[in-house]
Amino acid sequence: MPFSKTGGLADVLGALPQAIARLGWDVTLVVPRYRGTTAGTRVDRVAITVGGYHTDVNVYQEDIGNGARALLIEEPSLYDRDSLYASGGVDYPDNARRFAVLSRAALELSMRNGSGPTVVHAHDWQAGLAPVYLDTVYKSHPILGRPASVFTIHNMAYQGSFEPDWLPRLDLPWSLLSIDEMEFYGRVSFLKGAINHADAITTVSAQYAREIQTPEFGFGFDGILRARADRLQGVLNGIDTVQWDPATDPHLPAPFSRDDLAGKRDAKAAVLARYGLPADAAALDRPLIGMISRMVDQKGLDLIEALGGELSTLGATFVILGTGDTRYEDFWKGMAVAHPATIGVKVGFDEGLAHLIEAGADLFLMPSRFEPCGLNQMYSLRYGTVPLVRRVGGLADTVRDEQEGARSNGFVFDDYTPAALLGTLTRALGIYQKKKRWLRLQRAGMALDHSWDRSAREYVKIYERAISKGDSNGSR
Ligand code: ADP
Ligand code: GLC
Repeated sequence: MPFSKTGGLADVLGALPQAIARLGWDVTLVVPRYRGTTAGTRVDRVAITVGGYHTDVNVYQEDIGNGARALLIEEPSLYDRDSLYASGGVDYPDNARRFAVLSRAALELSMRNGSGPTVVHAHDWQAGLAPVYLDTVYKSHPILGRPASVFTIHNMAYQGSFEPDWLPRLDLPWSLLSIDEMEFYGRVSFLKGAINHADAITTVSAQYAREIQTPEFGFGFDGILRARADRLQGVLNGIDTVQWDPATDPHLPAPFSRDDLAGKRDAKAAVLARYGLPADAAALDRPLIGMISRMVDQKGLDLIEALGGELSTLGATFVILGTGDTRYEDFWKGMAVAHPATIGVKVGFDEGLAHLIEAGADLFLMPSRFEPCGLNQMYSLRYGTVPLVRRVGGLADTVRDEQEGARSNGFVFDDYTPAALLGTLTRALGIYQKKKRWLRLQRAGMALDHSWDRSAREYVKIYERAISKGDSNGSR
């Protein structure tokens, strides 16, 4: 279970460490102890100094399964805040420090057993300074001079860019303010630093690994990534098949499975009721379209907004869950007011409801502009909820269109236009009426195995390669 969550990164870090540990590795996850986290027992208090900023942090430890452990860093002035990264849409002004302290604490704590780690695996810009520190501040350190570093990009849209005068306050030399280092449009980017200093770079699907080397998806980093292409690899995320299992999910009114889908109709009734929508026989026969999403441009909400009222003419019911940009929250709230019997909207974050929607919906909507991996389409497949997605990133790697032969499990469109989305929605709703074809799609999706084991094995290979490269170089 993740300790804190804004999106898929939490799901990944809630499952990957255990999957790596299952393969025999000794894994320690280090995360901030954000507000509301109650996990762990206090095991340590350590002094951390970054760029003259001194703080004592409390370290909480929690076993997370298979011998893996999480260390949660408690520092109320840095992490005990309303939200994780921003307030009222504005990033916290000290984010550079907040996450520098996280990386430094992780590295300092990794030496506690005297021998240090063999691999440091950092995720997204928030941990991006870890590979940079290993390659600069700790380069000649007797313990921390040795580990290989692996950096995973979960989303190129978030780059951790700060004013250059942060450099000395992060213990980093001015030489890093160079185009070959961390400089990005006059600022310093933690993402760029990590890309340029990690021994291996991964991202969360093979398709996204290709896409981010192009101007359309690279967010200005495509050239840098092409230059580092020899160490960049896509590893598709898995899903936690224990947390997300329709046969045992405690959030559902009745269990169901590939062989017996009857309980799915109970979930549909339950989700309609939760939204205060009609749940009579006619309503249960209407196709139910679900969407659970951060409400940001990435997720294709402008396409949906452009269709607007046309959505209500499709003969389907919608259940929407998400938070994000006011513009999109307001759009959906307006839609629910205008179509109270067929469009239900909840603005907020609700893990249990997310499970119920995945179970109760017939069709799951993910028309993303870009999608590094995407987890909801994999949850949908497992819950017999047919995904309708755009052919990008991990969506392209996991969903196969109804017209594409035997292993079809969903609906896929290419052009990022409202017309392409509408056309595919209409096609999908037509096929919903053909019960046998629909069932075939559901069952094809439910047969897939997206558990973490395969991906974890790929990460282990990447770790081993990065370690052996470092060894053959003598030092890194
Ligand atoms: P991203 O990380 O870009 O947001 P993913 O599809 O990888 O997209 O992961 C999103 C995760 O966050 C899923 O587990 C999804 O169910 C969850 N999620 C997103 N918004 C909400 C919400 N409002 N309430 C509950 N869960 C949410
Ligand atoms: C990011 C991406 C999403 C991915 C998740 C976990 O937030 O937007 O596509 O699934 O990270 O890797």
